[in-house]
Amino acid sequence: MTRPFVVCGPGTGLLFKAGPASRVYTREMEAKMAVRILVGAAWGDEGKGKIVDFLSEQADIVVRFQGGANAGHTVQIGEQEYILHLIPVGILRPDKTCVIGNGTVIDPEALMEEIEMLGSHGIDVEGRLFISHNAHLIMPYHKLIDRVGEEQRQEEERIGTTGRGIGPAYADKAARKGIRIVDLHDHGVLKEKLQRNIEEANRILDAIYQAEAFDADRIIEEYLAFARQIGPYVINTSEYLNDAIDDGKEILFEGSQGTLLDVDHGTYPYVTSSNTTTGAACMGAGVGPTRIDEVIGVAKAYTTRVGNGPFPTEFPSRWGDEFRRMAGEFGATTGRPRRCGWFDAMVVRYAVMVNGIDSLALARLDTLDSLQTLRLCVGYRLNGDVIPHLPNDANVLARCEPVYEEMEGWDRPTGHIRTWSELPVKARAYIERVAELVKTDVKIISVGSHRDATIFL
Ligand code: IMO
Ligand code: MG
Repeated sequence: MTRPFVVCGPGTGLLFKAGPASRVYTREMEAKMAVRILVGAAWGDEGKGKIVDFLSEQADIVVRFQGGANAGHTVQIGEQEYILHLIPVGILRPDKTCVIGNGTVIDPEALMEEIEMLGSHGIDVEGRLFISHNAHLIMPYHKLIDRVGEEQRQEEERIGTTGRGIGPAYADKAARKGIRIVDLHDHGVLKEKLQRNIEEANRILDAIYQAEAFDADRIIEEYLAFARQIGPYVINTSEYLNDAIDDGKEILFEGSQGTLLDVDHGTYPYVTSSNTTTGAACMGAGVGPTRIDEVIGVAKAYTTRVGNGPFPTEFPSRWGDEFRRMAGEFGATTGRPRRCGWFDAMVVRYAVMVNGIDSLALARLDTLDSLQTLRLCVGYRLNGDVIPHLPNDANVLARCEPVYEEMEGWDRPTGHIRTWSELPVKARAYIERVAELVKTDVKIISVGSHRDATIFL
């Protein structure tokens, strides 16, 4: 029997663009297209940008649901390299719509810079970029507190943050004093909240960090200008996305950072300040878990980490420096050298578990082309015993010694290969062993930064 039901369109406000009006649906209209979540399976920089770009060809809407401009998602299209920090990678395809969900923290300055950067390449975001009215704003004092906080810690206690104000902004959100996109809509509220927060930030900056005070009036002026610029993009993205799912649209959630940087499931305190795992996609976009069809994890064929914290399979420094140069492993957001190491099946298997990963995309296989011997971490030794699971307590993980299995390298270029059968036998053996160790199918293999340098199984 066909039962009609009503779904309301996004809320509207003075500054905010009107969404579609209320519509009547029939259950038959809920034709199922896939809703997929893509997450990083290690410490970030797994090559998510390239894989999201590849998968977004089929998607209608690409959604960021957590983090902020700490992310650096790199996509190579022809000769042009794009690095996106805040706007979903789907924006690079002209027929896609992109959403920045409520779980993110938005630095309006970074957002406007990114919109401008895209504009300079002829990519127009108007009408296909939507921002949640419930997302929190990063303020100039968040960025300063993030930076001076790091500077004033002892070297060994530093997290190695990106300095983008992420931690302090999420702290304000949890403390219920954050300023949200919706507050830009009411100048009175914005002024009142800003004044209160700036006074407090100035007291902290002066007393603890002896840093210069912020001028409240200047920030208010700046943010009122941002309000006018951002206004046209703001809607109720949760309603928009749920409507789209009802309409049978194909949706791709673009995770940023990685599982081991999750504030709950990562190597705390050496983590970012948001949940980066799949549950966060529901929370950070206002979409229920029953609407998700598939979870894809992305891991590199080896491992990297930027910032501090335990990293059991990290290469010894001289070899690490050489590998980093060969692999070009430098941060897309901060330019910092990335720490490099062997593939760690303990880490990725853990990511498979906490995210419910259905299949894996293995990135940068070609980077291993010239190595004679490869190592895979298959377990950890702790206090003399081999342990079956990854301990996510940073202090315990720091004491774990990797147990390696060695495999012969394929010692041939793979960058030109586009099918599984063309891959060298030893490369296939390596991928099959990875899949076996992490108990998940590998469905996508990336052999280069270009869109077409992808093997889809
Ligand atoms: P994508 O999306 C790699 C790391 C920082 C630091 C820690 C906390 O490109 O994979 P934060 O500024 O978030 O408070 O820093 O998290 N980090 C990342 N590492 N890739 C990222 O994003 C990262 N975003 C944050 O280096 O160790
Ligand atoms: Mg990155």
